[in-house]
Amino acid sequence: MAKQSLTITDNRTSKQYEIPIEEGGVIRAAALRDIKLNPNDFGLMSYDPAFINTASCKSRITFIDGDRGILRYRGYAIEDLAEKSSYLETAYLIVKGELPNLKHFKTWEHNIKVHTMVHENIKKFMEGFRYDAHPMGMLVGTVGAMSTFYPDAKNIEDLESRRLQTRRLIGKIPTIAAYAYRHTRGLPYVYPDNELSYTGNFLSMLFKMTELKYEPDPILERALDVLFILHADHEQNCSANAMRAIGSSKVDPYSATAGAIAALFGPLHGGANEDVVRMLMEIGSVEKVPAAVKSFKEGNSRRLMGFGHRVYKNYDPRARFGKKLASEVFKVTGENPLIKVALELERIALEDDYFVARKLYPNVDFYTGLIYQAMGFPMTMFPVLFAIARTSGWLAQWAEMVRDPEQKIARPRQIFIGSAPRDYIKMDHRPEPESREERVSDSI
Ligand SMILES: CC(C)(COP(=O)(O)OP(=O)(O)OC[C@H]1O[C@@H](n2cnc3c(N)ncnc32)[C@H](O)[C@@H]1OP(=O)(O)O)[C@@H](O)C(=O)NCCC(=O)NCCS
Repeated sequence: MAKQSLTITDNRTSKQYEIPIEEGGVIRAAALRDIKLNPNDFGLMSYDPAFINTASCKSRITFIDGDRGILRYRGYAIEDLAEKSSYLETAYLIVKGELPNLKHFKTWEHNIKVHTMVHENIKKFMEGFRYDAHPMGMLVGTVGAMSTFYPDAKNIEDLESRRLQTRRLIGKIPTIAAYAYRHTRGLPYVYPDNELSYTGNFLSMLFKMTELKYEPDPILERALDVLFILHADHEQNCSANAMRAIGSSKVDPYSATAGAIAALFGPLHGGANEDVVRMLMEIGSVEKVPAAVKSFKEGNSRRLMGFGHRVYKNYDPRARFGKKLASEVFKVTGENPLIKVALELERIALEDDYFVARKLYPNVDFYTGLIYQAMGFPMTMFPVLFAIARTSGWLAQWAEMVRDPEQKIARPRQIFIGSAPRDYIKMDHRPEPESREERVSDSI
């Protein structure tokens, strides 16, 4: 077998260095530090804005092969889980690493359900938000505030404490999300009903009106559960990276999760399905699809939203389920008229040389917005639904980071390109800047 190493020649010094290749194709960036001009030199660094080609951790949770359109949680294909599992069972798998047997599942379900209630002061805290507050903003703030209710959560090295906070967060996040929704509608908050399933209870807390007991439609309940499975984890994406980076300071998991939710709030991460719906509304009818596709290709207006992915260069396996679920949900809710526009867009784009050559396929966001809209969710709730599902993934990523002996506080290097040293000049001696650009050259 060939030697698993890389030989680098530094042409500045003509010295050679041998760097081991690990895990079938990885070099440690720290090994570059040995490549120096002289003993006082800092050594070489790698420069990788946005982590395009840098692994920040070793993980056993989620596997993605973007070229082949593969997504697996703990080795199980997303297709299998979406067809056969439930969100709570998948959350157990993601958090604990194995599928539960019946006894362990029942205990897990019980342990989550005993945490669905929130402290009455959390309810009061949420009542303090303005009537038109964005539900994601409420979620960020309230999950962050949870750290003040559970100060024991700071014991992150304690396994039992980590388990307890994990169950609490998975249990309470739908309640907080539902309260945020009811708040925006000016409706009284609905307490959890633990006789219902995890997703059924969430629907009850959202949509229960005067009826004594809310009975979720089984098709909608299952559809939402499958959507939660599809969104439960996606390895080192922006919010998982935020969860790990914030958690690496050893802060409690509520504070770290609030940061992860904030990362998800950004339009480049959790907001794409909303953009898809807006785009479909703008196109408006099937007849206008060819002209719209032409303009996406010419880059005149916007991109074809819900198409393309940084990792998937094939059909996003989650998008197939989105399409299937849409037709099931519409049997109950009535068809979302925008689906015709979406199907025509997909048909034309998948035959078009521009999209084929660039390997642009529908991603998970292409159909989910239409489903959520048909189920009665306002667009501001779309990322909130994503956050509920992703909580199990964030917590699994966080626990893996806490237990990993190779991890330290996340602290990237920089390449300093600012000013050379200069002397402080008293304010009344400073010259007048010649232009506004000079005065604010580096300002926010
Ligand atoms: C997801 C996304 C950001 C990935 O971007 P990326 O991996 O950095 O890919 P690039 O931006 O380098 O795009 C590669 C090429 O495909 C084109 N392209 C990518 N996505 C496109 C889209 N949705 N519509 C039209 N053209 C697209 C780019 O213009 C570029 O073309 P060029 O090589 O001629 O310049 C990008 O595909 C996108 O903006 N999609 C729409 C938004 C979306 O659905 N986001 C949700 C992701 S889950």
